[in-house]
Amino acid sequence: MTSIRRAEPADLDIFLDVLAAATARLHARGIQQWPDRFATAKVLPDIESGNAYIVWDGQDAVATTILSPNGDRDFWTSEELADSAYYVSKIATASGYGGLGSAVLDWCGGQAARLGGRLLRLDAWRTNFDLQKYYLSQGFHHVRTVELGHRNSGALFERPARDVVTGAMLKYGLTS
Ligand SMILES: CC(C)(COP(=O)(O)OP(=O)(O)OC[C@H]1O[C@@H](n2cnc3c(N)ncnc32)[C@H](O)[C@@H]1OP(=O)(O)O)[C@@H](O)C(=O)NCCC(=O)NCCS
Repeated sequence: MTSIRRAEPADLDIFLDVLAAATARLHARGIQQWPDRFATAKVLPDIESGNAYIVWDGQDAVATTILSPNGDRDFWTSEELADSAYYVSKIATASGYGGLGSAVLDWCGGQAARLGGRLLRLDAWRTNFDLQKYYLSQGFHHVRTVELGHRNSGALFERPARDVVTGAMLKYGLTS
């Protein structure tokens, strides 16, 4: 059974390994999303702030996510940033764990709701329409796509943050 725990600074490489493995699978499919390996600076501040989580299956790290109260100022307007919203990023799963990402998103929604968040938001890779379709299938609404020359993501999505236990969460034991 899997369980989700807050990532510690000592988990940095493990967190980056999960992301790198997911990226390698995407690149092997010809999907040019994400760098081969994220820089430490893209993850460590969120680990240190207590916003980063790892899903474990025994000793194996099988998924990652960051759940932050801080939205990206490049993408969200000041009015939107003032909303009670939580922001998901760096979500990735290991192969052989189909549906775990959905469970992690549901878990994030529950956490956000319990912390007073009304919305769960994310920004996705702008040119990856299959990924964007995935978020629509997960009940997200496409807010808009922001085009900035120095950013590859910018397809903005949100859905209500709900504190409910879903089938995906039960399947992976992510109920607390
Ligand atoms: C996104 C993710 C967490 C979803 O996990 P999940 O809910 O368990 O869903 P699955 O892994 O079974 O994927 C569901 C579908 O989305 C597709 N998909 C997932 N990520 C995708 C991506 N980055 N680009 C294109 N398609 C993607 C899968 O190919 C699959 O398609 P299929 O149903 O036709 O087989 C997981 O697929 C993943 O780690 N993807 C790579 C990393 C990533 O893109 N993260 C999101 C960044 S915003």
